[in-house]
Parts: sequence; structure tokens; C-alpha cells
Amino acid sequence: MSETLFPQSSTLGQPVPRYEGRAKVTGEARYASDVRLARTAHAYLHMSAIARGTIEAFDLAAARAVPGVIDILTHETIGDQIRQTPAIYQGGYISDSRRPLGSAEIANWGQPIAVVVAETFEAAREAAHRIDVTYKLHPSLAAGMNSPSATTQTLEPMTIGVGDFDAAYAAAPVKVEAHYSTPAQHQNPMEQFATQCVWESDRLTVHEPSQYVNNVKFGLAEQLGIGAERIRVISTYVGGAFGAKGFLTQRTALVAIAARRIGRPVKLVATREQGFTVSGYRAETRHHVQLGADSEGRLSALRHEGWELTSRGDAVAMGAVSMTARLYACPNISARVNTVATDRSTPGFMRAPGEMPYAFALETALDELAHTLDMDPIELRRVNDTRTEPVGGLPYTSRSLMRCFDEAAAAFDWKRRTSQPGSMRDGDWLVGWGCATAFYPTYAGNSAARVRLSANGRVHVSSAGHELGQGMYTMMAQVAAEELGVPVERVTVSLGDTDLPPAIVAGGSSSTASVAPAIMAACDAIRRRLGVDGASPAEIMPAMEASGIGVIEEFAETRPHGVPPDSMKGLYRGKTFPVGGVHLPDRVQFALGAQFVEVRIHALTHEIRVPRAVGAFAAGRIINPRTVHGQFVGGMIWGISSALHEHTEIDDRNASYINANLADYLLPVNADIIDVKAIMVPEEDRLVNRAGVKGVGEIGVVGVAAAISNAVFHATGRRLRDLPIRLEHVM
Ligand code: MOS
Repeated sequence: MSETLFPQSSTLGQPVPRYEGRAKVTGEARYASDVRLARTAHAYLHMSAIARGTIEAFDLAAARAVPGVIDILTHETIGDQIRQTPAIYQGGYISDSRRPLGSAEIANWGQPIAVVVAETFEAAREAAHRIDVTYKLHPSLAAGMNSPSATTQTLEPMTIGVGDFDAAYAAAPVKVEAHYSTPAQHQNPMEQFATQCVWESDRLTVHEPSQYVNNVKFGLAEQLGIGAERIRVISTYVGGAFGAKGFLTQRTALVAIAARRIGRPVKLVATREQGFTVSGYRAETRHHVQLGADSEGRLSALRHEGWELTSRGDAVAMGAVSMTARLYACPNISARVNTVATDRSTPGFMRAPGEMPYAFALETALDELAHTLDMDPIELRRVNDTRTEPVGGLPYTSRSLMRCFDEAAAAFDWKRRTSQPGSMRDGDWLVGWGCATAFYPTYAGNSAARVRLSANGRVHVSSAGHELGQGMYTMMAQVAAEELGVPVERVTVSLGDTDLPPAIVAGGSSSTASVAPAIMAACDAIRRRLGVDGASPAEIMPAMEASGIGVIEEFAETRPHGVPPDSMKGLYRGKTFPVGGVHLPDRVQFALGAQFVEVRIHALTHEIRVPRAVGAFAAGRIINPRTVHGQFVGGMIWGISSALHEHTEIDDRNASYINANLADYLLPVNADIIDVKAIMVPEEDRLVNRAGVKGVGEIGVVGVAAAISNAVFHATGRRLRDLPIRLEHVM
């Protein structure tokens, strides 16, 4: 880049090793369930074996007889100790609106209906298995979207209408119309859903892996009916989250109540199977897409309607037509979103929750259009590229989509592709090359940080952001080091603790975009204290030296563009959510990218391989190419997994998950992932936020599944519109 907004830097943009890397590889890092508390008792959940009905009776005698059992919590034994509170979708804190152990009603298979507390994990587990429940089954059950008793509802506020879609589609010389679907999938973060609660007199400390410690704190205060100042939530390390640890789940209040009842710390580590319903997941989706274009490929009509599975209790929808309708120039657009309520646990956010499935539908449809037009799919994106989103006519703050396509295409050697399906056969292997757009909205939210500069050149930076493995500690150290002109090794970091200055949820790929500006603002305050406002980083330590001051500590809070002034209260109540993307009055903000994959399908065995994938992403300023590389490549691998492997299989008879374990839930292994390359396309965006950061956590997964389905078509001539694509589908 010739003219550069961000001055050449010694730290930012460098592949600084992970701040907590040594602690993690040596086992020194203490995850929530590793924290040792004196006299800990162990909790084990008992989950419902039916999906819809009521509990008629518990027989707890055999469970209580297990040596070491201390207490058993059911809706009968805990009564009203946990209050009914609204779900996040209704302005509350909790992932779903069901009250934990709230009644005899059962709303899904795998609902926690009892908690055993015992001296050991083994005793608690043994007793939990000995609980005998008499159920009364509800006569009808909707296990999936196609069930007759599922109820569909259109979410009117998400409806989009621009121009006259019907007339434009009818008149279009070239048309594509198709239906797509994506399955239920689960995050399965390596670290299971753990919670430890300890009361010291009337104060509660919670150790729980979380993407939003203040959400847990304030939500729990509401559930327990106590002042939030009495609760501290600590989440120093998180072993993977991907949306599943974003918000308070039912388990936390249960562990808190158990600890209070027995007057001892209580530790819960939900099993892998229980993890399938303890938190949210990526719900099944269906899509209907219609595209109309002229003979040069210019879109004249675009329609995208989505259906998303939800629970009967909570109408949750990701509704990403708000994005697919705004990606390409098109004068006539119609879009709608529907929820389909079933007897399943409430879905939630899973890495690019709406973007991934909606991109699969739209980007596969575009490939179908390119094929119909006999046009290169990259050129189809080029003729429809736009600097202005077509729904509200708002400008993109920056948009490097075609540069991403061009760089990825060059790295992939796309020019060697022959367009005819089946034309690139290599011996027994059918070879297909496909591509698709990746996109993710640029969000940020209110955040605060504290920075302490000592005369010896040591810096401490703190903010209640979250380390999910994505590189938060490292980023925070880098930003403070850069601003204050000290080596990054001189910076220490505290995060993941409600006693620290509050920060946004680590969701929506918004952590760096939100917290880096708060750190920068705290460093500004240090400059002002030193009387060197606006000075370069190199001038700070000399000014500190000259001042004779021992320690300066400054606090700052920041409110990003588009976040209302009165929202700052929410920062101090665990209610800061990502703002931006398509939800601003004056502009749209997106990171964009291009995904390319090669698929090989064996002509005889139909085995599907992905020997290589190339993604190019423009996501504003890259603070640490090492950690960002991990985000992009990790996302792309998950995209391959989403397209070819993962599927939470549902038993229609009782709406249970058949493969709720890591043996039967199909995941790629090293042998499945061969050559995955991520290219960071330089991009400077002066508008998105002071750090110039667009967010990288989720975009890597978006578009991969479409690129794969497009490559499968190119290899075979078979268009597969339902994920996952497995060998039986290409026979
Ligand atoms: Mo992410 S699914 O916004 O945690």
C-alpha cells in the first residue's frame, strides 16, 4: 500500500507469538474446570429421554442410595429458587426462555431435568443414571422442519422488497430457481460446557468458559434474584466456543443453586452428549432462491426466502437475507425469513450463524446462473459487483471483493479451468473446481479498557474481553505496546473477568474492532496526562521519564459509530451486542472474500476429496497475521467439514440426536484436510473503527460449502443442493 493510514509499526501487523501460548502448551493454563476449589462437590445432569410431554414422577430412591450422593435437584426439590427470565431474543440474558428445572413440562430431548450432587464425579454419574422418571408423552411431536406438527411463521420485520421482483423475474431472459438446505450441526468445542460455582458468605464466584462474562453475571443475578455486585464471573481461557458459549445457559443457575444448598463449591462438566443440548447449535435451514439476469449476467431480479428451525419456546432466526439481498447490484429484490417451530432445543449462534447457510444457497444459485449463461463464475460476480448496497442505497465503507477473487484465482491457477462439467477428469478421478463469495458484516460495540504505564516501561492492559483461542491476549498486548512505544514483551494482559472494565460479547467477529479502540483511547489519556497529546509512541517513554511519575493508569470507554449514546449503560449491565453490518443508517460494513476449492470424486468409489482450498480475504487491518491465519484457515477447514462431513442426525421418533458424540458425528481428520491456503488481501478502511479492523473470526467458514457444491457440479454435472454432500449423493 502506498499511502497508508496506519504508520509503519514494529508490533501491529507482525506475527507476534501467542501471549498465552507457553501457558497452554505446558498445561499451566487453568481452564474453568481446572480451577481447584477446596471441598468441591461434583454435579451431573440427568437429561430428559423424551422430547415433548411431562414428568409424572421421579423415583430418586436408587439414586439417593449411591454412596457419596449429597443432593438431588429437580423441579420439585428446588421449587421457585430460579426466577423466570427473558431470553436474549426478548432483551434478556439467557440462551432460551425456559426456566431451569422450572416445571414438569418437557420441551426437548436432552433437557436437564435433574442434577445430582455428590462427593465424586463417578458417584454423581452413577446416581444420575439411577434416576427413574415416569413420563407422559404428548401425542404429537415435531422433530424436524418437515414434521406435520411443526408450525411456520413469517418474520415480517425481516421482509425486504425493492422494485418489482415478480415483473422483473417474469421478464428476465435468463432465470435460475432452486431450493437448498443445510442440516443441524453442532460446534462441539473441545472444552466441554463446564461451570464451577463457589459462595463465600453471600458472594458468588463462577468459573465458566464464556464469550461474555458480564452476560453471565447479570443474567445470573436476575435468575437468582440477587444484586449483580455479588457475582463475579471468571473465564481466563476458553477452549473453543464458536457461539456455543456466547450466552448464559440453563446449567449455570443450577450449579449456583446446588452450591448454595450444600454450602460447598460445586463443579459441573457436561458430557459430550449433553453438550448437544446444553447450549445452542446451527439449526437446519431451507432456502428458495430465484435469480433473473440479462444475457451478460447482470442481475435484474433476486429472491431469497429462508426457513430456519427453532424451538416452540423461542422464535430464533439468523435471517441473513438481510445480507444476501445486499451483496450484489440488483434493482428488484424480494426476501423473506420464516421460523419453523419444533420440539427441539433452542438453536443458537454457530460461527457465521446466518452467513454460512444463506451464502450456501445464494452462492450456489449464482453458480447455477453462471453455468446457464456459460459464463465464468468470477466474471458473474464482477458484472454484479457494486460499491452501493441495493436495498437502502447505502455505500460500502470499503469493498475489495473482486481483488479477493483475482488474488485467489491467481493463487489457485483458475485460468487452467475448463468450464464444461466433467471435462477435467484425471484418470479415475473426476476433478471439479468451484468458487464462491465469502462475506461477514463488520460489527463493533461499546467496550472499556484500562492501561497502566510504569516508569520502568512495563505496561498492563485489562478489559473483560475473552480469549477463545482467537488471539485476544496477544492483540491487546500488541495494541498497547504499539500505542505506548514499548516492546510487546513488556506488556501484561488481564481479560475474562467481570471485575475488569467491561467489554463486548466475543461474538459477531467484533472483539478486536471493539476492544482495540478502547485500549487506544486509554493510551490517549495517558498521553494527555503526560502533556504530550498527539505525540508519537516513541515520545511517550521519554516524557514519562521526564515527568518523574511512577505509574499512570487510565480508563477509557468507547462507543463505535452507529451505537446510540444511551447504550453505554448496557455496557455496565452485560448488554453490549455487535452493531454495524447492514444495521447502520448511513453505510454498510463488510469483510469480503473469495473461496476456491478443488474437489476430486473417484469414478468408482465415489469418494469425495478436497485436495486444495484457497481463500482470499479483505478484512481491513490485520493486527496479527499469525492468529488471523489461524482464524481464516480454521474457518475454511470448518467450511469443508460443513459441506462434506457434519450432520447432527435426528431420530424422528423422539427428536433425539443419534450421533451425539465425537465418534459418530462425522468430522474431518488430518487426512481429509490437505492444502488450505489463506491469503490476506491488504485493505485500509478509515471508516469502520479507529483500529481499521473488520473482524476475521467467522468469514473463513462462509462460502466454502457453496464453492464445494459448485466444484462437485463441475466435476460431475450433478447439482447437489443439500448439505452435507456425501458419497451416496454423487453416485
Ligand atoms: Mo459467533 S457465532 O458470533 O460467537
